[in-house]
Amino acid sequence: MKILVTGGAGYIGSFMVKRLLERGDEVVILDSLERGREDAIDKRAKFAKADIWNWNEVESLFDNEKFDSIVHFAGYISMEESTKDPGIYFYKNSGGSLEILEHARRHNVSKFVFSSTAGVYGSPIEIPIPENHPTTPTNPYGESKLMVERMLSWYQKIYGLNFVSLRYFNAAGASLDGNLGERHQPETHIVPLAIKAAIGQKEFKLYGIDYPTKDGTCIRDYIHVLDLIEAHVLAFEKLDKEKGGFFYNVGTGKGYSNKEVIAMIEKFSGSIVKIKTEGRRQGDAEILIADPSKIKKELGFQPRYSDLETIVKTAWEWHKNLKMKDEK
Ligand SMILES: NC(=O)c1ccc[n+]([C@@H]2O[C@H](COP(=O)([O-])OP(=O)(O)OC[C@H]3O[C@@H](n4cnc5c(N)ncnc54)[C@H](O)[C@@H]3O)[C@@H](O)[C@H]2O)c1
Repeated sequence: MKILVTGGAGYIGSFMVKRLLERGDEVVILDSLERGREDAIDKRAKFAKADIWNWNEVESLFDNEKFDSIVHFAGYISMEESTKDPGIYFYKNSGGSLEILEHARRHNVSKFVFSSTAGVYGSPIEIPIPENHPTTPTNPYGESKLMVERMLSWYQKIYGLNFVSLRYFNAAGASLDGNLGERHQPETHIVPLAIKAAIGQKEFKLYGIDYPTKDGTCIRDYIHVLDLIEAHVLAFEKLDKEKGGFFYNVGTGKGYSNKEVIAMIEKFSGSIVKIKTEGRRQGDAEILIADPSKIKKELGFQPRYSDLETIVKTAWEWHKNLKMKDEK
């Protein structure tokens, strides 16, 4: 298959590109590099440096390449940033996705896999969260993704663009050899930030210690990036067999508190994570845990690396390698 990977220079996209190439697909990456990294781009893939908003450039890419499928990762990912600058999220995530959808339907692309988020659910009224839980986002990031899910449903009905929307819980971890991992710009995720604090690069800001949870900190469901990528492969296999629009949670069904994540990082690093306690962040839900039974039953999804120990161990190795590279 010839597959367009938007955001293929980012954290999750770079893993996807590698996996698709290993599967024997032909891969074209579309990334503006505004939040990605050139050194995360797999040299075996074709790379088009462009903004998804650049209509002419992207249209000619579609004209030339004749894609069978798209995996759409490109976008902005910070819930916190979205509460301060909502417009950029509606522009980049919702508007930018609409652009890609328009190119896709003009070029008769029939399969689309979308990076959605648990943020579409908002503050859950039921834990673990099933896919039919109400979708009432508590921040513009979640809303911007929900808008895309709604567009996808209409494009499926009207143009027959078949899709899987994967609602990721918290992606984390790195490759088993420590050569590829998480490096957002700006970084807002707990695992890399707490590792940086353990390495002594900065203080770790812990947002909220008064949540009604066992230790007062937020609880999240972490999915190892390698398992998350397998969910995409399974999504394509689903679309090979069946037409329609499908929504799946990608999580494990198990949650860890922020303090548990920090304790695991301290265990691997042998260092204390220097913590600065802050108030709650606007738009943060206290507990987000997936009900993954639908993706397990329908797609045969089975996480292999998503225990907290493996997530932190791989992330720790990746950051150690990065630090060594930076020091050279
Ligand atoms: N990381 C997570 O835990 C998580 C959780 C839920 C959903 N997601 C979603 O998964 C996707 C990938 O996340 P990630 O962690 O790899 O993020 P990332 O920031 O590492 O990657 C996003 C990539 O998209 C590119 N990009 C952004 N805007 C663009 C534009 N207008 N045109 C072209 N390229 C553009 C960036 O340069 C970057 O390389 C995002 O859509 C995100 O919302 C991520």
